[in-house]
Amino acid sequence: SLVYLNGEMTPLSEARIPVLDRGFIFGDGVYEVIPIYQRKMFRAEHHMARLFRSLDKIGIPNPHDLAGWMALIDKVVAAYPDDDQMVYLQVTRGVAKRAHAFPATVVPTVFIMTNPLVLPSNAVRAAGVSCVTMEDKRWLHCEIKSVSLLGNVLAAQYAVEHEATESIQFRDGMLTEGSSSNVWVVKNGVLYGPPKDNLILEGIRYGLIRELCAANRIPFEVRRIGRDEVFAADEVMLSSATKEVLPVTRIDGQPVGNGAPGPIYSKLYEAYQAAKA
Ligand code: PDD
Repeated sequence: SLVYLNGEMTPLSEARIPVLDRGFIFGDGVYEVIPIYQRKMFRAEHHMARLFRSLDKIGIPNPHDLAGWMALIDKVVAAYPDDDQMVYLQVTRGVAKRAHAFPATVVPTVFIMTNPLVLPSNAVRAAGVSCVTMEDKRWLHCEIKSVSLLGNVLAAQYAVEHEATESIQFRDGMLTEGSSSNVWVVKNGVLYGPPKDNLILEGIRYGLIRELCAANRIPFEVRRIGRDEVFAADEVMLSSATKEVLPVTRIDGQPVGNGAPGPIYSKLYEAYQAAKA
């Protein structure tokens, strides 16, 4: 398959970046993961807006305008055989002699690739997934979609080592998010989510779920959520580009609610599928 790297389409196996790229040396860059349904970007404008916010937050000049980005992504998507895909794009500050602060002159590195979109199977959806809880030990700029993902990597590995699909993180006893997903809690018919501040990534599904709740008359409330509330929830679910919405039916080995995916999840999942079409 062909990838885009700094102005050229090349086979993935031939794409090369210099070892002094600041993405490699410092994790100095940002990224996006965009689902493609039937060759069309889903919530494209939202993903682009978040990319632009991330670039702005870390002072990387945006190398393309909106139309330019869309054209590049479309090119990569068009060159791929599958209709449903997952586009990964990354921008780093560029290549420069190693020194921590920003180099005076540097050209951002732009990389775009695509892969098959692998969604959870119906069997996984029917059973729901297991999660494990842990302390959130990441930095205080989780709102930036940074490629510096060591905290998230360790959280994901912790989940694997505990035979869980995802970790659910808490900071000072309050729910933040998963290693690569947002986390939602249902109690008495109300969907609760943590505030979109610097402690979580504002998932593109965060806004989508809010819209779907409004359209389906599901009460939606944003506030800090305590650890005890997660364990006392009727339903818990995850959201991300690759999970869409996914029910959590066990946390730290204990059943969530009655241990089966709940009605709010089912409604949101249906609404999500309708929104894709
Ligand atoms: N992760 N929180 C974190 C820490 C994430 O990494 C992600 C997405 C989300 C959900 O965001 P969205 O709804 O925009 O996918 C929340 C992507 C899929 C990844 O890193 O692969």
